[in-house]
Amino acid sequence: MFSKRKETPQIDPVQRELYEHARKRTVQKKRLFQHFIVFLVGSIFLIILNLLIGVGKEITFFGLDWYVIVVICWAFLLVLHFCNVWLFHKFMGAEWTSNQMERLIAKQKAEIALIQKDVDLMYPKDELIKKKEKFIKQQQQPKVVEETIKPMLNRKITMIAAAGENNALGKDNDLVWHLPDDFKRFKQLTTGHHIIMGRKTFETFPKPLPNRVHVVITRNENYKPEGALVVHSMDAALEIAKDDPQPFIIGGGEIYKIGMEYADCIELTRVHGIFEADTFFPDIDTEAWIIENRELHGADERHEFGFTYLTYKKK
Ligand SMILES: NC(=O)c1ccc[n+]([C@@H]2O[C@H](COP(=O)([O-])OP(=O)(O)OC[C@H]3O[C@@H](n4cnc5c(N)ncnc54)[C@H](OP(=O)(O)O)[C@@H]3O)[C@@H](O)[C@H]2O)c1
Repeated sequence: MFSKRKETPQIDPVQRELYEHARKRTVQKKRLFQHFIVFLVGSIFLIILNLLIGVGKEITFFGLDWYVIVVICWAFLLVLHFCNVWLFHKFMGAEWTSNQMERLIAKQKAEIALIQKDVDLMYPKDELIKKKEKFIKQQQQPKVVEETIKPMLNRKITMIAAAGENNALGKDNDLVWHLPDDFKRFKQLTTGHHIIMGRKTFETFPKPLPNRVHVVITRNENYKPEGALVVHSMDAALEIAKDDPQPFIIGGGEIYKIGMEYADCIELTRVHGIFEADTFFPDIDTEAWIIENRELHGADERHEFGFTYLTYKKK
């Protein structure tokens, strides 16, 4: 009922190539062998012709019999033939190699085209171009100052200090009292915040205070202490601390003076006594500042002097 169609077997092109190559090689080798036999027989024939029958005995070249010259030339041709078959074609031949390279490149190109097709399907080119153009436009637009990089509206820049009744802060780069509870309060208030200080105050610390970001103000461009960020103005210090809702200005005298106009709040520990000092807290202008809170701490066995915590707010 059904006529059977004879199908010609499909031969893999690579296999076919290899087969073709093998066939050519066999023919080449066969020819070389034939050449060798012909050379052998021919040489013997020439020797017999010359030595036994005496053909051309009188013909010589460079002192050699003519048949010797012929045999040498022929041997040279045979060697050339041998080299051609066994050396130059030994590794599949240059033509075969370049064919293989072309085939490989074509195969890779086809695979890349397939991958590109998939990519085009997953990420349509038009959309990508649109996205790219949008991105470039955004980059070129002048940057709008966003709310996040503006200083926080309710940020409370606080100066914290302990000063005697004559505004004494310290002497010879050190404090002139030891008040553990004031230290404790300083630690409680400043932990987790930026503490902004002058270079001299920073150098009074044996090491940076834990859990606080140290911002040191100096005019020295080469100042690079460990454990602190270095800036060269109060503006730069407050810029670094812009995400901190309550950065603290912790002294000393020079920095408090600058800080006065920036601060919103002063946490002042007024130490009850008059002290000899070389550094002083600036006068607090009562027209501009109001005391919001006060808390007395008397002298005791741990505190040689009594003191009052005063919280000032800018009016
Ligand atoms: N009682 C307290 O609550 C308290 C608190 C803190 C400190 N203190 C005491 O205060 C004393 C240190 O205070 P101080 O007034 O001598 O020094 P300071 O204020 O700690 O530091 C002064 C340094 O800050 C840098 N600086 C100042 N103004 C600057 C500006 N406009 N721009 C850039 N950098 C500037 C300079 O550093 P360069 O020289 O490197 O340029 C200057 O030498 C110490 O005795 C310390 O114990 C007391």
